[in-house]
Formats: sequence, C-alpha cells, structure tokens
Amino acid sequence: MAAEHDENVIWHSHAVTRAQREEQHGHKGVLLWFTGLSGSGKSTVAGAVEQALHQLGVSTYLLDGDNVRHGLCRDLGFSDDDRKENIRRVGEVARLMVDAGLVVLSAFISPHRAERQMVRDMLGEGRFIEVFVDTPLAICEARDPKGLYKKARAGELRNFTGIDGVYEAPAQAEIHLDGEQAVPALLVQVLKRLRSDGVMTS
Ligand code: ADX
Repeated sequence: MAAEHDENVIWHSHAVTRAQREEQHGHKGVLLWFTGLSGSGKSTVAGAVEQALHQLGVSTYLLDGDNVRHGLCRDLGFSDDDRKENIRRVGEVARLMVDAGLVVLSAFISPHRAERQMVRDMLGEGRFIEVFVDTPLAICEARDPKGLYKKARAGELRNFTGIDGVYEAPAQAEIHLDGEQAVPALLVQVLKRLRSDGVMTS
C-alpha cells in the first residue's frame, strides 16, 4: 500500500523558495534540538532562548514534548517504538517549519541516538543543531518538578528515562550545556553559537 502510494504522489516544487523565505525573515531556518533527561531544564532553557530570539526579531517556534503529547502525539506512550514515532513526527513538523524559514526549538528527551540521528538526516547539513542539556540524574531527581521520578522509583511509572529506561547521551552535540549553570548563562552560550554559525547577524 505504501509503495503504491509513493509511486503516485509526485513532489511539486513551488515558486517561493526557502531562500526567499529566509531572506524575508532576515535569518536562516534551523532546528535547535534540545535533548536531556526529564527535569534537566530543556524546556526552560529552550523557552528562554526563544524569548531572547523573539525580542531580537527572529521568527521562532517552540515544540515542547509535554505539549506535543497533548495533540499531535496524544496517541503515543513511552515504549521504544512510541518514542521513535514521537520523534519522527516532531522531526517532520520541524522540517516543514525550518523550510518555512523559522528558527525552531524543540525540547524532547529523545533518549536514543538513532532517533536524533534520523532527525539530523531529515533536516540536512547545517540545519540541525543538537543542544545537550547535561544535568546529572541525581540533580534531575532532586528537582523532580512533576513528581515523576518519585513515581518511577515507586514502580508506578514504567520505562522512565534514567530509572528503568535508557538515555544515550550525545557524543558530539553542537552545543553542550552544563545544566547546573543558571539559565541566563546558558542562554548566552546558545546565542553566541547561533551568531558564530551565521544563523543571524543581530
Ligand atoms: S521522548 O522520550 O519521547 O522524547 P518526551 O520529551 O516527548 O519524551 O516526553 C517526556 C515527558 O513526558 C517528561 O518530561 C515527563 O513529563 C513525561 N513522562 C511521562 N512518562 C514518562 C516516562 N516513562 N519517561 C519519560 N518521561 C515521561
């Protein structure tokens, strides 16, 4: 069925190009992919970066794991297969938004290297910027903002990342953040990298 479908659906190149959209925005379209344990600070740092970019006139959109799981991915759980599908869908949505010329920020645990690589491959050279929010498990567990580590330790939550679910840390993230530092200090590091990569000039 899928093969038949593929054969008869032809890609159409439209008149307005990504380069033209980027020119209108005044910056490149890229995906900043935040990965890290639950409670590592991914959403908080991504939110602070988005706010700063917005104030600089950059067109942004933030895709957040907890929010996406209320809509686009509401049918998915936390098995390996479901997490893979979660990341695939988010990657495809992010790809379209990057094509629209936006600076997209995503905050997903995305515990498997293979899935993060899949999104990197989808986006293409220079469009995927991996941001590892590196916060030790003990710190995340002490923070436990949603009380989920407590539940996982009590055996009430299965496949919880870091407890009975794996987290494969990135080996070579473009941006490696020490999650124990204060948010403003982390924000500065991300903005510096975006400027040095030529994503934006302001
Ligand atoms: S991912 O692994 O598929 O990338 P995602 O980032 O979308 O995960 O969702 C993670 C959020 O779901 C966590 O921050 C936490 O609030 C919640 N959650 C609920 N169950 C689990 C679980 N078993 N493992 C990890 N996070 C969970």
